[in-house]
Amino acid sequence: MSARPNPPFDRLEPVAHGAFDHAELAGLGLAPETVIDFSSSINPYGPATVVEKAVRAADIARYPDRESHALREAIAGREGVDTSCVALGNGSAELIDHLARAYLAPSATALIVGPTFGEYERASRLCGARTLFFGRAVSRGRVSLALEGLLETVARERPRVVWLCNPNNPTGDYLRRPAAERLLEGVSAAGGLLVVDEAYRDLMLWEEPDGLVDLLATGGLALLRSMTKDHAIAGLRLGYVLAATAVVRALRVAAPPWNVGAPAQAAGLAALSEPAARHLELCRRRMARQAAFLRRELDGLSYPGPPGAANFLLAEVGDAAKLRRALLEKGLQVRDCASFGLPEYVRVSVRRSEECRRLVSELKRLPHRSEARA
Ligand SMILES: Cc1ncc(COP(=O)(O)O)c(C=O)c1O
Repeated sequence: MSARPNPPFDRLEPVAHGAFDHAELAGLGLAPETVIDFSSSINPYGPATVVEKAVRAADIARYPDRESHALREAIAGREGVDTSCVALGNGSAELIDHLARAYLAPSATALIVGPTFGEYERASRLCGARTLFFGRAVSRGRVSLALEGLLETVARERPRVVWLCNPNNPTGDYLRRPAAERLLEGVSAAGGLLVVDEAYRDLMLWEEPDGLVDLLATGGLALLRSMTKDHAIAGLRLGYVLAATAVVRALRVAAPPWNVGAPAQAAGLAALSEPAARHLELCRRRMARQAAFLRRELDGLSYPGPPGAANFLLAEVGDAAKLRRALLEKGLQVRDCASFGLPEYVRVSVRRSEECRRLVSELKRLPHRSEARA
């Protein structure tokens, strides 16, 4: 008899994500470099020159610093926390797994504020935890989160971990600090850890994000940050967690050795420099203009959706899979939101001006939503 993996591995599928499926593109006879990717929400202007230079200069022959000390120190300095409050990961996706392994177990409950990024559920279920969802209402271009209901669920279910994506992928809504504080109080009172995934924090286009770092001292909060999207180093992989020392200690035990390579550590340090900050600010301003253009055009095509706090927009289109496929055949890939439980929506990331114009002009040539539904 052949060996079988543990039960959660038998039952689970890999999570669906944006970005290219190279086999799918090959099947359509499309070369990846000819397709514009609106399905992963990365800074479309690429990395700052200082970041690229730092990556090229990195020493790839030796093992990297296992503790990533210089980068952790630099992040700690920027955030005003102790270096012992920073854990690094090979992308923030890896840290989701480490958080789950450190805090969840078969007897525990994980509460996910959905619809949202699929990795929280996968990581929680792999630890054998019971996963519950508390859903935002999403309808006709509006998204709302019933905070009181969420607090009641927390008090009743006493989850060990609550996963909140803020701004949320894919709905783009942002929970402001007073509400986040109330949630943290509720989760802490129930003995749990609140994980706030701030992957899109530095890509908020309209308003300044709130600071939650001073709340780390409560010991019940972990802030998850990604550096791959804002600094356009998704191929390199880099993310971090800010949390109390005891939380970070557990994450460092969960991490495999050398999980952050030398080029990623060098890129991270360069990304914290003044020139990289200026580059990102310029990109953000351009993206804000393009986001406004896209929202206007999508609304005009009767593809409604919320304004969206970050660099992606949700649009209700009818048959999302059909629309995605039709656009892909034209060399444009958007994210079909069926895997988020939103089969009538696509998520469109904000790209360069000429690319957004091309998307809009292809959308205008496709059959209108009501005909597509018929
Ligand atoms: C909400 C959210 N968190 C985390 C990640 C993972 O990002 P990375 O591992 O590139 O830092 C993603 C990627 O799409 C995301 O959307």
